[in-house]
Amino acid sequence: MQKLTIAIDGPAGSGKSSLARRVASMLGYLYMDSGAMYRAVALKALRRRVPLNDEQALSTIARETHVELKRPSPEQEAAGAKNCVFLDGVEVTDEIRTEEVAQAASRLATIQEVREVLVAEQQRAGAGGGIVMEGRDIGTVVFPDAELKIFLDASPEVRAQRRWKEHQEKGDKISLQEVVEEVRERDRRDRERKVSPLVRAADAVLVDNTAMGIDETARIIVMLVKERDATAAKAGRTA
Ligand code: DC
Repeated sequence: MQKLTIAIDGPAGSGKSSLARRVASMLGYLYMDSGAMYRAVALKALRRRVPLNDEQALSTIARETHVELKRPSPEQEAAGAKNCVFLDGVEVTDEIRTEEVAQAASRLATIQEVREVLVAEQQRAGAGGGIVMEGRDIGTVVFPDAELKIFLDASPEVRAQRRWKEHQEKGDKISLQEVVEEVRERDRRDRERKVSPLVRAADAVLVDNTAMGIDETARIIVMLVKERDATAAKAGRTA
């Protein structure tokens, strides 16, 4: 099989991370969580107390920040870790998973210069193919020529429930209602921003996993990958 590029976009709590990780491991591909990059830059801005409406200062931070995503160890993976995230060389894998950082990431993700810096990094990381990258603009902006694009969605209630369950498992004190509000606000901002809003690419396959588990959804995606691979191989033979 060829090494394809797979873009998975969707709103918060749609299950992108679990799905993208599972598909990557089934195919032996790299997995990349682009949202972690926005979160890492947001964490740095919060730590420096930079106002989240200071576009110039936030763009400077994005340019001067080195975010690295590394594959977790098998033990960390078994415990549910996604990418291990390093901010200027220091691990911040857990620190970026708070609601405060999520909201700040969504706010700084509206700034064009910040996006340009991070999109360039993502394109470099995925240049060789054989990657499953998840985010909001992967199929529309980062890899518009990806061989397979998935737009993953689920009902707002189910998405909020999933996020809340994650918080419960970590022992965070946050009510379901607060998570519902948080997800709603972030959705609105991510979908309505002027630069690279969350939209389904015209050629993305819409997958609604409200009533589907991770295994079933991953199997569907892998089936689509095999189909795309066969199409690409056929095109290669006739070229
Ligand atoms: O995927 P996530 O929830 O960890 O992402 C956090 C925020 O980062 C999200 O609310 C919007 C932003 N983001 C983005 O604008 N583009 C991406 N490709 C990924 C994330």
